[in-house]
Amino acid sequence: MASASSSLPSSAASKRLEGKVAIITGGARGIGECTARLFRNHGAKVIIADIRDELGTVVAQDIGATYIHCDITNESDMTNLVNTTISLHGKLDIMFNNAGIVDSSMKPSILDYDTTDFKKIIDVNILGPFLGTKHAARVMIPKRSGCIISTASCASVTGGLSSHAYTCSKFAVVGLVKNTAVELGKYGIRVNSISPHIILTELVKEFLKVDEEGMKKYYTHFGGKPLTTQHIADAALYLASDDGGYVSGHNLVVDGGYTTGSYNFGLF
Ligand SMILES: NC(=O)c1ccc[n+]([C@@H]2O[C@H](COP(=O)([O-])OP(=O)(O)OC[C@H]3O[C@@H](n4cnc5c(N)ncnc54)[C@H](O)[C@@H]3O)[C@@H](O)[C@H]2O)c1
Repeated sequence: MASASSSLPSSAASKRLEGKVAIITGGARGIGECTARLFRNHGAKVIIADIRDELGTVVAQDIGATYIHCDITNESDMTNLVNTTISLHGKLDIMFNNAGIVDSSMKPSILDYDTTDFKKIIDVNILGPFLGTKHAARVMIPKRSGCIISTASCASVTGGLSSHAYTCSKFAVVGLVKNTAVELGKYGIRVNSISPHIILTELVKEFLKVDEEGMKKYYTHFGGKPLTTQHIADAALYLASDDGGYVSGHNLVVDGGYTTGSYNFGLF
C-alpha cells in the first residue's frame, strides 16, 4: 500500500500524470495496486487489469479507477482491454505490464523441472508482456507517443535468485524491452523495465512462506533496509512521467545495490 508521504502530491501543479491514461496489469494487489494508487494520486485515469475480479473491483472503486478482467496470456482479453480503454478515454499513454507469477514449488535441479510448469511461467511472465506491448503499440503508434513499462526482476540481471523458468522469463522481458525500444522509438514511444529485488507481497508470502521477520535475511545489503512496493511505484512514476522523458530501452534495477557486486568477500 502506498505510504501517505510519497504518494500524495503537495499540489495540483505537482501531479506528474495529469491527463494521462494508464493500464496496469496485475493491479489488484501488490506492486500493481500500489502503482495504481500512486498514478491516480498524480492525476492519471487508471485501468486495473487482473484475473482477481473481486479484489480488482474493490481497489478500482476505492481509488476511482476502472477494473477490466484480463488474463494477460489471452490475446482476445488483451485486445478487449486496450480497445475498452480507447472507448472509455480515447487514448492510452502508459502501459504497465506488471502481472507475473512465480513457480508454485521451487525445483532447484533442471533434471526435476517439469516442462508444463516451465511453460506456465513463460506464458504469464513473457507472453503476457509481449501481448501487452503489442496491443499498447497498436494504439500508441498512430498517436506517435506512449510509454510502456514491464516489471522484470533482479532475476533478469543475475543467476541463482529464482527458478530456471522465472529467471529465463525475466531475462526475456528485458530482451523484449530492448528490442521494442529500438523499434518503437521512431514513433516517440519509450519502452523500459523495472527490476525489483524481493518485496513482501502476497506473491512472496505464498511462495516463500515468510513473514516480515523471515524477510530480514534477504536484506543483508543496504543497511538491512527493506524494499517496498512504494519504491517500485515511485520508479514506475519516474519512467511514466516527463521526468523519464528521454529514458528508453532501460532496465531500472531497484535493489539497493544488491546485484551490483559480491557481498561474500567481506571487503567492505
Ligand atoms: N514481490 C517481489 O519480490 C517481486 C520481485 C521482483 C519482481 N516481481 C514481479 O513484480 C510483479 C508483481 O508482483 P507482486 O509481488 O506484486 O505479486 P502479486 O501476486 O501480489 O500481484 C500480482 C498480480 O498479478 C495478477 N496476475 C497473475 N497472473 C495473471 C494473469 N495471467 N493475468 C492477469 N493478471 C495476473 C495476480 O492476480 C495479482 O493480482 C510480477 O511480475 C513479479 O514477477 C516481484
